[in-house]
Amino acid sequence: MKPTVLLTGATGYIASHTWLALQAAGFSVVGVDDFSNSSPEVLKRLQVLSGQAPVFEQANVCDAAAVEAILARHKVDACVHFAAFKAVGESTAQPLAYYANNLGGLLTVCAALQRHGARRFVFSSSATVYGQPERLPLHEDAALSATNPYGQTKLMGEQILRDLGHADAAWQTACLRYFNPVGAHESGRIGEDPRGTPNNLMPYVAQVAVGRRPELSVYGNDYPTPDGTGVRDYIHVVDLAEGHVAALRRLFDSPGSFTVNLGTGNGCSVLDVVAAFAKASGRPVPYRILGRRPGDVAACWADPSLARALLGWSARHDLARMCEDSWRWQSMNPQGFTS
Ligand code: UFG
Repeated sequence: MKPTVLLTGATGYIASHTWLALQAAGFSVVGVDDFSNSSPEVLKRLQVLSGQAPVFEQANVCDAAAVEAILARHKVDACVHFAAFKAVGESTAQPLAYYANNLGGLLTVCAALQRHGARRFVFSSSATVYGQPERLPLHEDAALSATNPYGQTKLMGEQILRDLGHADAAWQTACLRYFNPVGAHESGRIGEDPRGTPNNLMPYVAQVAVGRRPELSVYGNDYPTPDGTGVRDYIHVVDLAEGHVAALRRLFDSPGSFTVNLGTGNGCSVLDVVAAFAKASGRPVPYRILGRRPGDVAACWADPSLARALLGWSARHDLARMCEDSWRWQSMNPQGFTS
């Protein structure tokens, strides 16, 4: 019997790639999403890519009755929980919505899983829990802090799962701290499709290259970094998806819970990304230097050694490949899933 995984936020950017990776690794998947920040078109694309009709339930994970009904209909063995809001600026403007959705969803899903005896749980955390890094690379035991409500929901989510594990050793949880996910499936059929103006660098650069936006604003070139622009640990979304599979396998194979970074260990600057994207796409990426974006850190990259030791996982794709795949997705779908 294949183990069955409840995948929340299933039609979102990282989850849709994880769906394919889970199926390729021999898991059955029950996807749940309310399409609040994703498109039903993703399901059609997943069907083409996997050759299987997706098992899918449309629901909001804060709706306890709906989650209970889903778990009554589908026997699941584990959960990979993506469903959450993720925009830092929006979280500062709408803290109640962020706490209600991100923590309410987590609590609702965990309570339902507890009732149904499925206590293996993978949580989407973020490198944002490290706040302003004191030293680099970031190891999992670095100091934790949050500078906005979104980051607080990730810190609190991790704490809730630790408390659950302390209360009941049958709960096995994995908190995965993502660095900066970019790129797309190599087919170009699924990828990142932000609504409105992209907040993040790579989708913005891709939209400039495809002609949807005139130029990139580079937020600051006076950081203490080699070229003065912000440095981040960009990780290919397919590597990240495979990190989830490795984490889930570990939960099935060994007792205990863990928290790991999912990053490459390499830092790239904004101008590195601009140059790599221009090369991959063969299109110019005009940019203008502006002032720093409030709340940004100068540099942030992972120590990925724990994930390698614990999960036997490490990222395989380099920045050139991230840009090539991102460009294939963007050029095949200039308006995203509505193209
Ligand atoms: N940047 C620009 N112009 C843009 C967008 C971004 O110059 O239009 C720069 C930023 O200043 C930063 C770098 O590109 O130096 C990366 O910015 P992103 O917004 O892509 O990513 P962040 O590292 O700021 O944020 C990401 C996630 C957050 C998470 C954070 C820390 O989007 O959810 O990592 O883990 F909180």
